[in-house]
Amino acid sequence: MNTNLAVPSEFTVEEKEALYKAIYLRRDVREHFLPTPIPEAVLRRVLDAAHHAGSVGFMQPWTFIVIRSNEIKAQVKELFDQANREAARVFEGERRALYSRLKLEGILESPVNICVTCDPARNGPHVLGRHTVPQTDVYSTCCAIQNLWLAARVEGIGVGWVSILDYTLLRRLLEIPEHVIPVAYLCMGFVDDFLPQPQLEKVGWLPRAPLDDVIFYEAWGKGNAD
Ligand SMILES: Cc1cc2nc3c(=O)[nH]c(=O)nc-3n(C[C@H](O)[C@H](O)[C@H](O)COP(=O)(O)O)c2cc1C
Repeated sequence: MNTNLAVPSEFTVEEKEALYKAIYLRRDVREHFLPTPIPEAVLRRVLDAAHHAGSVGFMQPWTFIVIRSNEIKAQVKELFDQANREAARVFEGERRALYSRLKLEGILESPVNICVTCDPARNGPHVLGRHTVPQTDVYSTCCAIQNLWLAARVEGIGVGWVSILDYTLLRRLLEIPEHVIPVAYLCMGFVDDFLPQPQLEKVGWLPRAPLDDVIFYEAWGKGNAD
């Protein structure tokens, strides 16, 4: 990626490169967590980066539940094991065998777990910009999670997103109010190495799609030359 284009920017070339570097080197991490605790100041920095994400109508619908208790983690791990057994059943033959070999969570090994939730009722029933697409509250929460993921990466902290959980049971376990949506369960900890490519790409589950396959021009299905 050439970040040295002659367009004025308040970011220096080095700063631009640092941002793209964080984006390209971000990984979903499920193993090789170090037991080193995450200092409170570092965790707050990362959460503050998340808290500066864009949100529909500036509603900031997210909440971060920081979990360090081994007892709670063990209960979440049970939820994962249960959900994962069911998830494996949708695949057959070799695909199922490969699925079963994948490490898809790092709940117990990571020093910090964070459940990120979305409160659709935050700041009242009418949120600027959310009238036609109510799900924009969850989209906003995902923007916060991406900020967290990138900020953690530059701190040397791996983040693994675990979605293979029954979120109704997770809500009950973490005493999350009925109307609040659990959006992500994240495993976080320092790692001494990040994989150079997604684990699922490495094991041949799926390749990265070529960029040109995911860009249309002017309307659906139209390439640049059409
Ligand atoms: C919404 C969401 C849910 C995910 N859930 C899981 C999960 O349950 N288990 C897992 O191992 N990875 C999960 N991942 C990680 C993806 O598998 C990973 O992002 C993808 O393979 C690309 O790899 P990379 O993040 O290292 O670039 C999830 C990612 C996202 C964005």
